[in-house]
Amino acid sequence: MWKGRFQKSTAALLTQYGESVSFDWRLYKHDIAGSIAHAGALERAGIISGDELAQITGGLKAIGREIEAGEFEFKVELEDVHMNIEAALTERIGPAGAKLHTARSRNDQVALDMRLYCREAVGELTAKLRALQAALVGRARAHPAAVVPGYTHLQRGQPVLFAHHLLAYVEMFDRDAARLDDSLARIDVMPLGSGALAGSTITLDREFVAGQLGFAAVSQNSMDAVSDRDFAAELLFDLAMVGAHLSRLGEDVILWASAEFGFVTLSDAHTTGSSLMPQKKNPDIAELTRGKSGRLYGNLMSLLTTIKGLPMTYNRDLQEDKEPLFDSIDTAGLALEIFAEMVGDMVVDEAATRSACADPLLFATDVADYLVKRGVPFRDAHEIVGRLTAHSVETGTPFPEIPLADYRGFCDLFDESVFALFDIRAALAARGATGAPSPENVAAQLARWEKRLG
Ligand code: ARG
Repeated sequence: MWKGRFQKSTAALLTQYGESVSFDWRLYKHDIAGSIAHAGALERAGIISGDELAQITGGLKAIGREIEAGEFEFKVELEDVHMNIEAALTERIGPAGAKLHTARSRNDQVALDMRLYCREAVGELTAKLRALQAALVGRARAHPAAVVPGYTHLQRGQPVLFAHHLLAYVEMFDRDAARLDDSLARIDVMPLGSGALAGSTITLDREFVAGQLGFAAVSQNSMDAVSDRDFAAELLFDLAMVGAHLSRLGEDVILWASAEFGFVTLSDAHTTGSSLMPQKKNPDIAELTRGKSGRLYGNLMSLLTTIKGLPMTYNRDLQEDKEPLFDSIDTAGLALEIFAEMVGDMVVDEAATRSACADPLLFATDVADYLVKRGVPFRDAHEIVGRLTAHSVETGTPFPEIPLADYRGFCDLFDESVFALFDIRAALAARGATGAPSPENVAAQLARWEKRLG
């Protein structure tokens, strides 16, 4: 493609080192769509004839079909997907093909392809996030009354509805989807026409190209447009955050599926055995995802580091944007899909979650609140119930079995009504503020999510 200035051919090692077609071939659809739109602009500018436009369009579409069918031979000597497709086109249609790259550089071409690719990926990833949310909502709907201890520091804190716990993840994945949607404001900007860095002396109708490709905006600075990868870094951050959320959910699933918790059983289809211990049923999906979240973070770091310190404008370093980006899109996409399956098939043992809530110490905060409602300052109430707890633990007497006289020994504001606190239904029903886990609130949240995701 640059044979004019060179006397020697490229060293074999450089060809091997510099090629990107082994991974950027997957931009082919976007590259072809971009080239067809660009050819349209060339025709409007009088650079090519209507007939040449038809030849280019037909030739590119045929190449696209061949690639789709796995019949196209990509050549590493041609470096990247862009030059492979252009060379094949020219080989097939001759002079019209050689006109395609007018007023275009691979710098604005690859920026365009990457943006088209990211835009498509955002749509697919969002659908996968929605499917996982639906699976979580489905489990919550199947067990609307199941109670679990809510934990802080992995110590039992206060009772909650299992549905409330699941819906916490639905909220997280909703923010992930919102972030992806928001990233489109940066992704959905059309860079073609920026040329290598300074546009072109041949003025093309960039708004026409943007319209053909369904872009919301056209880039306003050619130097920025060819070197900007903010949009890709942002998408990598969004996927790293998805990884964080999946990893947290994975950790919960791992705990729940342990014999110590026993809250859920995972399907045989979503667990693996041990080659040595016959009894094992391991939550590999959750573990792998916890591990792969590291990859998602690493890919973000990789691109940020690539961008750092690059002088204006395009530098070949930017070719290093692709592998981390593709890897994160693939990894997050597959993780979301497999989590939706795993969560959807997860069997919840309500008896086990109930018995984990049997410890009346889970009501300690409620006892303190009871005293507050009778005028005791919260700090004092906290201390009184702290002493009561120590008494309960030392004497082995659970809260409901401590005689009223003993309660009154700790504080004379206790009366018979204290025993009504030790009922989990009542404890949950009392938590009615917005966002708190009363059954009424959780039912409303479930209905809200079903409506939104339905
Ligand atoms: N394969 C290159 C990349 O991914 C395309 C742009 C190459 N431009 C250049 N001037 N060498 O960045």
